[in-house]
Formats: sequence, structure tokens, C-alpha cells
Amino acid sequence: MDMKVSNIPAERQKLVDQTMARVAQIERTHGVTREAVNMMKDELMQLATHKHLFVVPDEFQPAKRGTFKDFVAYRLNKDDGTPRALYVSLALPGKSSPPHNHNNWAILVGLDGVETNKLYKVDPKDGFKQIDQIDVGQGVGVALMGEDIHSIHVQGRGDEPVWQLRFYERALEDQTDRVQFDEKGNTELFPPNPNTKDAAQG
Ligand SMILES: [Fe+2]
Repeated sequence: MDMKVSNIPAERQKLVDQTMARVAQIERTHGVTREAVNMMKDELMQLATHKHLFVVPDEFQPAKRGTFKDFVAYRLNKDDGTPRALYVSLALPGKSSPPHNHNNWAILVGLDGVETNKLYKVDPKDGFKQIDQIDVGQGVGVALMGEDIHSIHVQGRGDEPVWQLRFYERALEDQTDRVQFDEKGNTELFPPNPNTKDAAQG
């Protein structure tokens, strides 16, 4: 096996472990506030600069078109006694989700390709409305508190996946209380995508 390729999981794990230690320190110092989650986003942005450790097509394959809503997430962080879960995700162009919250904080950072995030709020006067749009691509991230509402719209062409780091307060499979919204603000439960796998750890 090529030496460089075989070192990727170990090199990646080392940086992931270091990032998770810094995230834990942020939470110890600042608690779970919007400011703290934005600081965690900055750590993830730094991690994402090591793109070659995450965008590894030989190691991570996208979902087969038409299965699992065209999405897969490979878990990167080790169990450190917290529910926090870091993934590298691959989504196929055209995939979208309805507006939803997470009921836990969520951080998305682009690696390759673009996923448009639309942000919404429920206003007592104006009802449900879009308030922002962020094209999450390389060097761009978004941090969401549990009550924040977003929808995603994966850009690109063909079956070329869009790659991201996704970091959550709780593992995707445990996000069973997410709520989705229609344009009138009506709500229903938004079940998690079950297509998660474990990345090789170095
Ligand atoms: Fe989401």
C-alpha cells in the first residue's frame, strides 16, 4: 500500500482528537452558548483546511443515488464520554431537506462543493420566513443553535458528491426530536437519516 495513503487515517485521527480536546475546553470555559458554538465552528474551520485528510474518495464513498436521501456520514471522533459527534458527509447534487431545527447545536463546514443553507425564523407577527442564505463551501461554515431553523440544498452536477464536516451536540441517530416546518409554520417530527458509518481510525 502506498505509504502516504496508509497514513491518512492516523494523521486525520490525531487532528480530530486535538480538535475535540479544544472543543471540550471551549465548553468547559464558556458553556453551551452561541458564542461558544461559534468558537467551536472556528476550530472546525481550521480542521477543514486539512482537506486531503477528509476528501478521500478511496476511503469514503457517497450513497448510491436514490438511497438514504442521497446522503452518508462517516463518524470521525472517538467516544470521549460526551454525545458530541463529528462526521465527514457526502451528499449528492439535488439533495435537499425541508426547513427543520435540530434541538441540539449543529456546525456545518464545507470541504468540497457547495451546499446552500437557508435560514428561517418563526416570527410571532410575520409568521414563518427566510432570514438568510449561506452557501457552505470550502472555507465557509455555519453554526446553528438548537432552536435555529435551516434547510439544505446541495449544489453541483451529476453524481459528484459535496463534502462537508458536520459536528453535532448529539449523534445523528440520536436526533429523533428534530422538528420540520412547512411554509405556514406547521410542524411535524423530522426523523434522522440512519446512514452513518464509522471511518477508519488511525
Ligand atoms: Fe439540519
